[in-house]
Amino acid sequence: MKYENILVKNNRGIITLTINREKALNALNKSVFDELEHFFAKDAPRKKTLKGIVITGAGEKAFVAGADIKEFLSFKEDDAMEVSRRGQMIFNLIENFPKPVIAAVNGFALGGGCELAMACHMRIASERARFGQPEVNLGIIPGYGGTQRLPQLIGRGRAMEYLLTGDMINAADAYRMGLANHVVPHGEEVKKAKEIITKIATKAPIAVAVTIDCVDAAYNGVVDGMDYEARSFGEVSHSDDFKEGAAAFIERRKAEFKGR
Ligand code: CAA
Repeated sequence: MKYENILVKNNRGIITLTINREKALNALNKSVFDELEHFFAKDAPRKKTLKGIVITGAGEKAFVAGADIKEFLSFKEDDAMEVSRRGQMIFNLIENFPKPVIAAVNGFALGGGCELAMACHMRIASERARFGQPEVNLGIIPGYGGTQRLPQLIGRGRAMEYLLTGDMINAADAYRMGLANHVVPHGEEVKKAKEIITKIATKAPIAVAVTIDCVDAAYNGVVDGMDYEARSFGEVSHSDDFKEGAAAFIERRKAEFKGR
């Protein structure tokens, strides 16, 4: 697929994926979703040397200012439900991706933009970042996981306040509440995200993937998280990487993981 609404740049195994609709503050229309789905379902899983992915927005002002409101106007009820389910499915692909995916939030992350950032494994906020779920102002509700992931990240009471008032959350408050992992000077958010991915890339790849899987398992409401963790622990303990990691510790040398 030729991408026209996202930019994909691979620099030494770290992909920076930029939502590239600057004039519409990178609002998520159907084409962006098509491209995100293709990228996360088809392209990215095939990249053998991939270390991780940074998602950011084009321009100085916005990460993503939400779902494309202009596109919403033409929806009938069934269409809207389908759009919500599809958006959730694509954001789940991001959440369940086996390599770290970090949102570098360079400005407004509103509505679907906040939901995209929350589907990532971590969020690095520029000091200009503004998060929020302003859907109540439009007479709708979040449709790409916002009512579920915001309470998971900042707690139910706080999430309820922001979901019901539509108020924006600035970078310092996002950090204080656990929505942002770090706040950095504007323009340094991608760099910080890459630093974290570079560090994770030195760890055992299977352990990294299984950790992501286990953390997500607790939130999908279907499995018992502790049981899932114990089973996964059993599986990882058979990996060559575990033998190598333990041997390297005992021999006081750096481990050389092979991802097997
Ligand atoms: N959809 C479509 N276009 C958008 C947009 C969106 N979500 N957000 C901004 N734009 C467009 C504007 O229409 C404008 O386009 P024109 O120049 O053609 O008029 C351009 O981007 C610049 O925006 P503003 O002039 O409004 O910029 P501003 O600096 O004055 O305000 C802002 C910035 C506060 C982010 C404001 O644009 C805004 O409030 N945007 C909408 C935010 C929002 O409500 N998001 C939630 C969408 S609904 C959703 O996401 C539902 C869901 O969960 C599934």
